[in-house]
Amino acid sequence: MPMTLHINEHPVAVEASADTPLLWVLRDELGLTGTKYGCGMGLCGACTVQVSGQAVRSCVTTLAAVQGKPITTIEGIGHDRLGRAVQEAWLALGVPQCGYCQAGQIMSAVSLLHGSPQPTDAEIDAAMAGNLCRCGTYPRIRAAIHQAAQALRPHP
Ligand code: FES
Ligand code: FES
Repeated sequence: MPMTLHINEHPVAVEASADTPLLWVLRDELGLTGTKYGCGMGLCGACTVQVSGQAVRSCVTTLAAVQGKPITTIEGIGHDRLGRAVQEAWLALGVPQCGYCQAGQIMSAVSLLHGSPQPTDAEIDAAMAGNLCRCGTYPRIRAAIHQAAQALRPHP
């Protein structure tokens, strides 16, 4: 059935049943392929996007659950200062290896910093625990989150 989603600050008309996973529509209908398919079961974090600012697994989130809510994907996350700071820290520290998990990592990192602007190592590890990286980039992810937090710290 036709419905309108709000993706990266734009209304987008889609034709799909309400129980279709958001990830399917993002990648296959809308060409937003920065969001990756990993496990398809909510276990790896590769498909993470933001819905109303919260990190969610788009492979197990239906269209019905996101209708009327603002959705942000990796293609739109750099549109504000927080998202830009995280992307810049990722680039500066050369975080990605193969890159497959990294869109999901960035989406979760931005959600973390949104709620906890100066996170401790323990808070980072807890918030990022659901985002798996087969290449083991975890130390660089943690360092990049600290660097983004530092860049965003208000100056007296
Ligand atoms: S593809 Fe969604 S959590 Fe793995
Ligand atoms: S960079 Fe390869 S899986 Fe994370």
